[in-house]
Amino acid sequence: MKILENISLKAYNTFGIAAKAKHFVEVTGLLQLQKVLQLSAFPNRLILGGGSNILLTKDIEALVVHLNLKGISVYDEDDDTIVLKVMAGENWHELVLWTLERDYGGLENLSLIPGNVGTAPIQNIGAYGVELQDIFVGCEAMNVENQELEDFSKEDCQFGYRDSIFKNEAKGKYIVTSIRIRLTKKNHNLRTFYGAIEEQLKEMAVVSPTIQDISEAVIAIRKRKLPDPERIGNSGSFFKNPVVSKKVFEGIRKKNPQVPFYDMGENLIKIPAGWLIEQCGFKGKRQGDAGVHDKQALVLVNYGTATGEEVLNLATEIQKEVEAKFGIAIAPEVNIIK
Ligand code: EPU
Repeated sequence: MKILENISLKAYNTFGIAAKAKHFVEVTGLLQLQKVLQLSAFPNRLILGGGSNILLTKDIEALVVHLNLKGISVYDEDDDTIVLKVMAGENWHELVLWTLERDYGGLENLSLIPGNVGTAPIQNIGAYGVELQDIFVGCEAMNVENQELEDFSKEDCQFGYRDSIFKNEAKGKYIVTSIRIRLTKKNHNLRTFYGAIEEQLKEMAVVSPTIQDISEAVIAIRKRKLPDPERIGNSGSFFKNPVVSKKVFEGIRKKNPQVPFYDMGENLIKIPAGWLIEQCGFKGKRQGDAGVHDKQALVLVNYGTATGEEVLNLATEIQKEVEAKFGIAIAPEVNIIK
């Protein structure tokens, strides 16, 4: 375990922001993590996993801890299902492919999501009609204060839309070290009801889809709509889709009959932030190397040399315009490090 100095974080965040870490350490084992948390010289740390959900707005004074815990093991198994324990540093999409190769069902709709396993429960990753919580059993997390591992059940995690206890009262107090997920070994529960998946499967001429077909469909849709972080820096959806009252929604629909929406029940309506942002004229807009993706306005991009501050300024401008035009506040889903 070596503490490095003045390390560029460009390769460690999918936005490709070239902020620097004054001190940087790579952690590959739980004992190492405990030791790092006990270093009195570094009371403040920034824990970095796959770096797929953060925007670095300046150089980092705190010790940057790159969490690189690896391993996939079978935790439990019966005739129909298997519970896998997966360490936080495994790449999410590689895990999805690993499960599909073995014909384990449950992760197919969550194909090609950037980032690592440890981040998945923090924001309850979700796409195409499935959220992590649908297959989640529990996770282990290290208590930063006493360096002990604690177990969190699914209920303990208090999952919501792009939300969990780790974004709220447990924020900064725990480091997720592994997760457990229950997958099907047979009689897979195929979730093809999301419109875009149905259309894609038709295009692929698939009549009775397998979990592998669904994954392929999701990959094709994502590749069409979302920029590849290897080529254009981004963090996926920058904002959450806002949830408003039916009354507010009807006000918007009166002026914009074509507004897309999801009825959440209980008089609540979710409106795609991407649509709101597009209506404000931002889709495809570019300010220097910071921009709004031209195929999905919910995604902010770094064309190369944008600073985190430039991306943040663009995000703030978008929030102001959406608020002015629709009276709706949109909140970032990306973790902004200030
Ligand atoms: N839309 C526009 N203009 C845009 C983008 C979207 O009008 O520029 C409209 C679309 O036409 C569609 C609606 O908005 O009617 C919804 O768009 P889409 O299906 O692309 O989904 P989303 O609500 O924008 C969410 C997730 C994505 C996830 C997709 C698919 C959030 C914040 N984002 O996006 O997640 O892949 O659904 O399930 O909930 C991520 O979190 O990083 C992410 C990519």
